[in-house]
Amino acid sequence: MLHEKILVLDFGGQYNQLIARRVRDFNVYCDLKPCDLSVEEIKKYDPIGIIFTGGPNSVYEKDAPRIDREILSLGIPVLGICYGAQLIAHTLGGKVESANKSEYGKREFSFSKKSPLSEGIPEKSVCWMSHTDLITAVPEGFEVLASTPTCPVTAFGDVDHKLYGVQFHPEVVHTEYGGQMLHNFLYLVCKAKGDWTMKNFAEEQIKKIRERVGDGKVICAMSGGVDSAVAATLVHKAIGKNLTCVFVDHGLHRKNEPEEVMEVFQKGLNMNLIKADAREEFLSRLKGVSDPEQKRKIIGDQFIRVFEREAKKIGAVDYLVQGTIYPDVIESGKGKSAVIKSHHNVGGLPSVVDFREILEPLRDLFKDEVRRVGLELGLSEKIVWRQPCPGPALAIRIMGEVTPEKLEIVRDADFILRDEIEKAGLMRDIWQYFAVLTDSKTVGVQGDFRTYENVIALRAVTSVDAMTADWARIPFDVLEKISTRITNEVKHANRIVYDITSKPPATIEWE
Ligand code: XMP
Repeated sequence: MLHEKILVLDFGGQYNQLIARRVRDFNVYCDLKPCDLSVEEIKKYDPIGIIFTGGPNSVYEKDAPRIDREILSLGIPVLGICYGAQLIAHTLGGKVESANKSEYGKREFSFSKKSPLSEGIPEKSVCWMSHTDLITAVPEGFEVLASTPTCPVTAFGDVDHKLYGVQFHPEVVHTEYGGQMLHNFLYLVCKAKGDWTMKNFAEEQIKKIRERVGDGKVICAMSGGVDSAVAATLVHKAIGKNLTCVFVDHGLHRKNEPEEVMEVFQKGLNMNLIKADAREEFLSRLKGVSDPEQKRKIIGDQFIRVFEREAKKIGAVDYLVQGTIYPDVIESGKGKSAVIKSHHNVGGLPSVVDFREILEPLRDLFKDEVRRVGLELGLSEKIVWRQPCPGPALAIRIMGEVTPEKLEIVRDADFILRDEIEKAGLMRDIWQYFAVLTDSKTVGVQGDFRTYENVIALRAVTSVDAMTADWARIPFDVLEKISTRITNEVKHANRIVYDITSKPPATIEWE
């Protein structure tokens, strides 16, 4: 089935992926593409509407990205946001000027004229502004639709030609009726039907995979993370036992993780899932190694060796499944090169597996969509909301050499932290939370005895994409419970500290 599509042209602003996600949340498929897409390419793409995103430039800069005027006369509805709005005004002969002062934050604005964009929205409401340039005169044929005392053209449009621009950011939650405005653009201006749902997606993908693979053989490295779990489940629903998944148990997983993966996928879904017990091999190669990069390299390399060994047992296969998702493949508006992340843990796999093609059933999905597909397929909330865990897992959460004793300490502490965060209902508010075993020992007193034991650090961050992060403001009483439990229940830990560093300057992981 072909979906109706919205094209989001990326001018390099910080909220670009958010715009695309919002559109999809309203059940309309959309793609984020670089802003220099040609008119011919746009026609070929055949969108029901186009959104120009914001961006860091000023339309008067020599190298600022521009658009071909013809895009605005294709008869396809257009919504310009921030820089995108200024670009429409500038391209069609309106006036854009630099304000003396940047405007940043919430502003009350009022609609002075009704249009499809303002349908169902009160005359006065709050929007989120972030701009220096502003539009001071609209092009011929356009009308000012909304304004504020400091921003004379807050929204404008040519209703007949279905061209609109807004100076503020409707995609961010601070714009009170931003969602309604985007919805209006999609459904009233572009006449969307809303055919993009995760139920449809899952059904179509299963059918597609079945047709493509036929009775071919497929292999997948299952890490237990959300992406590989959902990808494998889709393929499993399509072809059943012709899919073999390999779960490498390197002994560095969080508490109960290997058991849970086997329980859910092998027992629950009846998947052909092999657990390769490689705990000894990993530990022996990590013996005496304390440099973080060295640890990572060893784990990556050993992972590939184990997987290769298992793959050889299966023999030649037709396809290798990878859990690549949309943010991994988007070309940013500025850079020309497609950033294709080799999926964590499985980056080196293509070279050691004898296969014909790669299957990437989640290539078009954002993370929240992957989760929804997971739920559609019957995976539990626990699996689909699992927080990201790095490939080297607990090995980079133990400072210095990895030993079985240290693994036990950090694993138990981490389990308590996770348990208390879950009990407090904070799982979805925090991007990642884990315990770190530092390489410091301190003096303590437990019972009547002096102790000299390990310091455990707690790390919890909020983030959107892990590129930047802020330390999570966990309530003190939750931190207190975690601290009390760890010092009581975990052997060899007598002091708990909380990491209050953002990224940058720190990173999320400690190593
Ligand atoms: P940092 O520590 O660089 O982490 O702020 C950013 C995100 O990436 C994860 N991470 C990794 N993931 N292999 C992975 O698959 C790795 O070696 C690795 N190192 C860090 C980290 O958990 C966070 O989500």
